[in-house]
Formats: sequence, C-alpha cells, structure tokens
Amino acid sequence: MTTETNATGAAAVVDLAALGEDFTRDPYPVYARLREQGPVHRIRMPEGAEAWLVVGHAEGRAVLADPRLSKQWENAAPSLGVFQVASGSTMLSSDPPMHSRLRRLVAREFTARRVAQLAPRIQEMTDELLDGMLARPARTADLVQSLAFPLPMTVICELLGVPFLDRDTFRDLSNAAVAATDPQERMAAAKAMPATLGALIESKRQQPGDDLMSALIHASDEDGDRLSPDELLGMAWLLLVAGHETTVNLISNGVLALLTHPDQLAALRTDHTLIDNAVEEMLRYEGPVETPTYRFTTEPFDVAGTVIPGGGELVLVALSDANRDPARYPDADRFDIRRDAQGHLAFGHGIHFCLGAPLARLEAKIAVRSLLDRCADLALDIHPAAVSWRTGLLIRGPQALPVSW
Ligand code: HEM
Repeated sequence: MTTETNATGAAAVVDLAALGEDFTRDPYPVYARLREQGPVHRIRMPEGAEAWLVVGHAEGRAVLADPRLSKQWENAAPSLGVFQVASGSTMLSSDPPMHSRLRRLVAREFTARRVAQLAPRIQEMTDELLDGMLARPARTADLVQSLAFPLPMTVICELLGVPFLDRDTFRDLSNAAVAATDPQERMAAAKAMPATLGALIESKRQQPGDDLMSALIHASDEDGDRLSPDELLGMAWLLLVAGHETTVNLISNGVLALLTHPDQLAALRTDHTLIDNAVEEMLRYEGPVETPTYRFTTEPFDVAGTVIPGGGELVLVALSDANRDPARYPDADRFDIRRDAQGHLAFGHGIHFCLGAPLARLEAKIAVRSLLDRCADLALDIHPAAVSWRTGLLIRGPQALPVSW
C-alpha cells in the first residue's frame, strides 16, 4: 500500500489509486489493514479526490447517521467541485427538510407491502430472460447481460412507466456516471442525462399513464407540494440509476459467491427456505456498494478521537469493510448463508437508508432461486481470479460473469 508522508514524517495520504487493479479485484485486505491501524484514514480515491475514509462497523454506522455531515454539494469544499455529478436535485444529495420532502413523495411506492405486489411480474420477467439465456446452443452466457442487468432495468423502467427508454444508451451513461474514474467522463455522462430523460418526462406529461413517473409529475401531498422540473429530472435519474446499478451486482456478486462456495450452493439447493438469509449474506459478504455517496463536514468532526476539519471535507464510509468487521461478524471473511447477517450496512443507515431495499431483495430472491431451479449444473465459465471488476469506489461488481450449464 502506498502511503505518502508529510513534512513531519507522519503517515498522511493512503493512495488507493496507486494500488491499481489489485485493489479493484480484492479491496478487503486493504481495508482490513487500515482498520487494524484505526478507524479514520486520509485517502486518495481512484477517482482522484482526497477524502477521509472511515472503516469498521460501529464507526461507519455512526458516521452514516450523523446529522453534522451534509449531503449537499453547496457544503463541499470548492476544490471538490470537479467531482460533482450533476443530476438535478435528489434526496440523495440533500439534507432535511428538503430530503424529507423529496423522500416522502415516493416512499409509499416502495414499501415492502407495495413491492410484494410486483412479485408475479418480476417472476414472469425472470422466466422470460432465463428462457432466452437457456436457449443458447453453446450452453454458456454472460450472466450480467442475460439476467442480472436486464431484470432490474426492466423492473424499474416498468415501474416508472418508461418502457421505451433506450436501455443500452442509458446503461452506458449510468455506468459512466457511477463507475468512471475519470471525473470528466462522469460529468459528461451526467450532463447527457437531462436530454435523455427530459423527452421521456415530456411524453409522460402529454400522455399520463398508470405509472410512477406520471404520478410524480402530478404528485402533490397534503400540503399541495409539487416537484419542480429539476426535481422531477433528479428523481427519475436517481430511481433509474439506483434501481439497476446496484441490484445488477447483488445478483452477479451473489451468484459468484455461491458458485465459488459449492457447500453453500448445495445447502441452498437442498433447502430453498434459506434464500432470504442467503440474500442477506450476499449483501453482507459482497455488497454492491463499496463506499456510498459523498458526505461533507460542516464543522470539525470527531470520529473515535480523530478530528476531521470542517469546511466541506469529503467523508466516505467503507461499507464493504464494515460488513467484514470481525468485531461485528465472527469469521467475517467466510461466506455462510446460515449466519446471522443482520445489521449489515449494504443498504446504508440513517435517513438515507436505501429506499429500494425491499425491491432489491425481492428481485434478487426471485432471480437467484429461478436460476438455480432451471440450471441444476450451473458453473462458472471463467477462473474466479480472472473476473474483471467494475472500477471506482462506489460500485462493487463484475463487468461480466461467464457461466455455463
Ligand atoms: C442491492 C441493491 C441495492 C443496494 C445495495 C443499494 C444501496 C443503497 C445505499 C448504500 C444507499 C445509501 C447511500 C448513502 O447513504 O450514501 C441507497 C440509497 C438509495 N437507494 Fe438503494 N440500493 C439498492 C437498490 C435500490 C433500488 C432497487 C432502488 C430503487 C428503486 C434504490 C433506490 C435508492 C434511493 C432512492 C436511495 C436514496 C435514499 C435517500 O437518500 O433517502 N436502491 N441505496
């Protein structure tokens, strides 16, 4: 690990960028070494920005829920502006009371009860995708292309009522916005988004349907609250990006974990009732979000004795490390679908806790269960060490996952 030193010889900046592909492939040992030294570290992200990284479960959980940290870019130090991804006003980039207002307008659409009603349609989509995949004469496929990407993308598009979204273009833009390590590439992708989504929103305005986007355009709560055009764009962008970028990787990471742990795979095949717990363990063991979105200090901020200066310093929480902290989970690096994985931070914590958690869990359960049911001899078609991983600190997941059956 490359650690620069300052004039007094004290360790100053851990350069994660310098760790290159090794870190992208397997970040866990790096985080574990940092955790052994203490919970707070000054890092240089692969994206280029300098930030304060918090490792460990208890510390990470506390930081995620601390109201002294702001999610608003107006509170970021000016030097960080280049890393901003412009995507309209969203709940994920706002603090209360704005955050509460934006979240309240859509929260009822994502409750566990509401989402459960989608199960038959999600099953139908999964069956169709698996029919297509299993019809391939070569009996091999990239699971990301065949199932893990199209399923959540189709679900969120149907929910929002944008079935004709050019998904490949959208996927490229969305991938660049969340995973590109070049800030300019990220910015360009985010800037292209209003044009892509604006036309869709306009068509919904002209011809409203029985869908979430139409409901949001006309949404008004008891106080007659309305989304501004900028907020509407931000909401559509956030739901589309958050709705698929993460769930893709829950399905791919989960299947990869099962295929590389044959005893766990066999246990799940034998006892289908383990699926709920298996999905929680997938989220804990190899969650799709490595470090969540940016938080900024608004005053000097003390974490376990280290004071991070105020004035808009960037603070990141290593969720992937929190979920592997042995102080919280015994034998934390072991994938065990029977363990008690409760309390994992894969969906974040506090007021920004993932709005789509019930939907993500449902999609993953249906996808994994159906895949295993239909492919009794599913296997990896690549050496696990050769899997190529998404870049950037935000998202953790394979670029492709070749499988055979
Ligand atoms: C396995 C899949 C998913 C994972 C691991 C995940 C993870 C997360 C995490 C860690 C956060 C908090 C970010 C932070 O505090 O900085 C979050 C927030 C959010 N997620 Fe998810 N997510 C998933 C699926 C979804 C889905 C399917 C949707 C969509 C419908 C969604 C919508 C959102 C929204 C709207 C927020 C912002 C909530 C707020 O700011 O109040 N997510 N998600």
